[in-house]
Amino acid sequence: MLNRTALEALTRRPLPFLRSAWPWRCAAYLLGSVVPGAATALTAAAVLALPMPLGFVAGAGVLAAAILPVAWFERRRLRLVDGVPLPETPDRRRREAGLAVMTLLAMWWIDLLMVAFTCAGPVVLMLTPLVQPEASVLPSVVAVVVGVLLLPVAAYTIAAWGGARGAMVRAILAPAGPELSEVLRSRARLVDAFEMERRRIERDLHDGAQQRLVALSMTLGMARLDLPEDSEAGRLVGLAQQQAKQALAELRELIRGVHSQILTDRGLAAAVRDVAGRSPVPIQVDVEMPERLPAPVEVTAYYVVTEALANVAKHSGATRGAVTGRVERGTLVVEVRDDGHGGADPAKGTGLTGLADRLAVVAGRLSLSSPAGGPTLVRVEIPCA
Ligand SMILES: Nc1ncnc2c1ncn2[C@@H]1O[C@H](COP(=O)(O)OP(=O)(O)OP(=O)(O)O)[C@@H](O)[C@H]1O
Ligand SMILES: [Mg+2]
Repeated sequence: MLNRTALEALTRRPLPFLRSAWPWRCAAYLLGSVVPGAATALTAAAVLALPMPLGFVAGAGVLAAAILPVAWFERRRLRLVDGVPLPETPDRRRREAGLAVMTLLAMWWIDLLMVAFTCAGPVVLMLTPLVQPEASVLPSVVAVVVGVLLLPVAAYTIAAWGGARGAMVRAILAPAGPELSEVLRSRARLVDAFEMERRRIERDLHDGAQQRLVALSMTLGMARLDLPEDSEAGRLVGLAQQQAKQALAELRELIRGVHSQILTDRGLAAAVRDVAGRSPVPIQVDVEMPERLPAPVEVTAYYVVTEALANVAKHSGATRGAVTGRVERGTLVVEVRDDGHGGADPAKGTGLTGLADRLAVVAGRLSLSSPAGGPTLVRVEIPCA
């Protein structure tokens, strides 16, 4: 999984997190504020030694001169801990300048203390045999072991502080305005409206057209009983009954595509098994849900599985596929994979991009891996809260 921010990376399992570049990126990010901060502070302190009021004016001048470059640097170095592009705001310059003043006056030395304290413990312990060569072997070994064990703790602390610092900088430079949440709310409303419309169509088809076709098929069956089996009329009525049954089967399929009753009644795991069972490519299903999930989450995941399995059947040339689904730390993770020839490209159709749109509304994420030659993996993550 690709993490876009240090805070997201913290939610990974310990080993992948510790092996990733995130702890180092966060350390680099924190030390990045120390360099301009310390340089400005030292210069300001040096000029403050000049006779007053000249010293005071020169100190303020040093600070003022540092604001522009530090503001520029702050925005760029944020990428180390937060890969999501910053949106433009109308008062960008003012915000950047405020952030630069904050960094120069306070944040740089807080960052420095944070890194120093976090790293000092494990480093000093690990260096015990060098620092205290006269100490006996056992305490030295214990100190080294404890130092090594504390390294992961330091990595987590630095990543947490780096991530929190990044989130603070983002909040200052690009606060989530009321317009943005309003846009999201109206998109959610639109999807709700579509969902209601789907259900209405499904009810109409189910209670109207489907019942009529069932009645038609039964009437034809009765008419056939009254006709001699080898007569032309009997053959034609039999054919008409076959066609009515076929139309009924197609209508049922259509209704399922519009709205899955199994999903509503029995939940995501059952609905996924149902879709997979009807796929022409054999699909292994491993979906376990601790409980029923919120309706928008279930419906979105269901459409992802339906579309991904339709793609497997239509495009992949696969001999088998698999669907897995789990809730991990409050996030539903569903993966659909196939052993086909790969090459899926959202730009070539509307299915995958439509899924990405749906996921955006429930704050979910769609990832796709489909190198030429295969295999193809579609993965979605949807927060359940
Ligand atoms: N599992 C897959 N294996 C190989 N290629 C795939 C797979 N899924 C999708 N593709 C390729 O990616 C393209 C885009 O898929 P997408 O679902 O967006 O559109 P579509 O299936 O062609 O049309 P639509 O879904 O709108 O009916 C497909 O046209 C196909 O070429
Ligand atoms: Mg498709």
